[in-house]
Amino acid sequence: MRLTKEEQTMLDGAQGRAVQKAMEILTTLGRIYAAARLIPVTSVQISGVSYANLGEAGLTFLDEMASGGGRARVLTTLNPAGMDIENWQNLGISAEFAENQLRVLDAFARMNVITTATCTPYLIGNAPHFGEHIAWAESSAVCYANSVLGARTNREGGPSALAASLTGLTPEYGAHLDAYRQPTLTVNVKGLQGENTDFGALGKVLGEKLELISGQRVPLICGIENASVENLKSFCASVATYGGVALFHMQGITPEASQMLPPGDSITITAVEIQNARDSMIDATSDEIDFVSLGCPHLSIKEIARIAELLTGKQVKKEFWITTARPMKAIADRMGYTAVIEAAGAKFAADTCCVVAPIQGRFQALATDSAKACYYAYAKNKFKTALMPFDEVVQTALQD
Ligand code: F3S
Repeated sequence: MRLTKEEQTMLDGAQGRAVQKAMEILTTLGRIYAAARLIPVTSVQISGVSYANLGEAGLTFLDEMASGGGRARVLTTLNPAGMDIENWQNLGISAEFAENQLRVLDAFARMNVITTATCTPYLIGNAPHFGEHIAWAESSAVCYANSVLGARTNREGGPSALAASLTGLTPEYGAHLDAYRQPTLTVNVKGLQGENTDFGALGKVLGEKLELISGQRVPLICGIENASVENLKSFCASVATYGGVALFHMQGITPEASQMLPPGDSITITAVEIQNARDSMIDATSDEIDFVSLGCPHLSIKEIARIAELLTGKQVKKEFWITTARPMKAIADRMGYTAVIEAAGAKFAADTCCVVAPIQGRFQALATDSAKACYYAYAKNKFKTALMPFDEVVQTALQD
């Protein structure tokens, strides 16, 4: 890989140990993926923020990067942490965990990273434009940035995203290149309904089919007439979880789709397959559900407004988490939604989510509208799950 003179001095340590370490990470990646050079990025999203996932080893790495003079050179935001940074006691988080989580956030803050802690950075100000080269981690956000916004990013890991932030650079390979972005398979979708659960179930069906295909997998999806931002963030989270998809095109909806010739290879996904996928994410009975959560990926203000509308004058009977970005909660505060939701007994869990918070063993069954949350509720926490449409999730929280 060719380095400029300045990049070589960064690798040699002239700009401090943190930048040197970051360049080591980026050049190693570049060699593995046969990148010709490093290119500038303008936005970074870092994953691996929850202390539950990072542990002491991860925290030590962050601390060394901060102490070694690492400072964000471009707009950099964070994935969800393991707790609500202001309201962790109310969510049953231990003081010991909170102390460690705050040490993680402090290390990022020392590096001038914006500690927003959300998986929907594109809803709160880290929103790259079409064609912009960025370095994002968090699979759902990567898929959204590439596909819906038309920005260009590979699926970074926590360390490579941090390295991109501290240098403003990333190796040029994969989704940064035109060739990678060409669709490889036409996917005809039949009979899709408009709930987030439908889009999540479609993501599961498609993801699992793509997992069986080797090589590059960029679907061109046809047959979907409408998709809201909320539908698309659900779909991105699901298709990235079940199929490792970092980029898709959706005819009539995503910005690059009209420039692409439909590939000759095609598959069809039917309404029955989507229904079966929905059913496969329901193994909890209504009696077993003791935990309800909305906000995977983190909720938009429109979704929070809907929850407030449904909860007005009512009382929830189950533990109910509303997970969102803190700036989104600030809007909810201002609009009076927070007051309505909290008066009903539901809990805001800003900065975190039901997957990255340390809640293993506390609940037996989760009700959610998120196919991704269903996957991790079982895989990580061994919870049973009940996937249901958004409004029904709220109704479930109200039932004894
Ligand atoms: Fe976001 Fe947590 Fe879901 S990080 S996509 S809310 S698993």
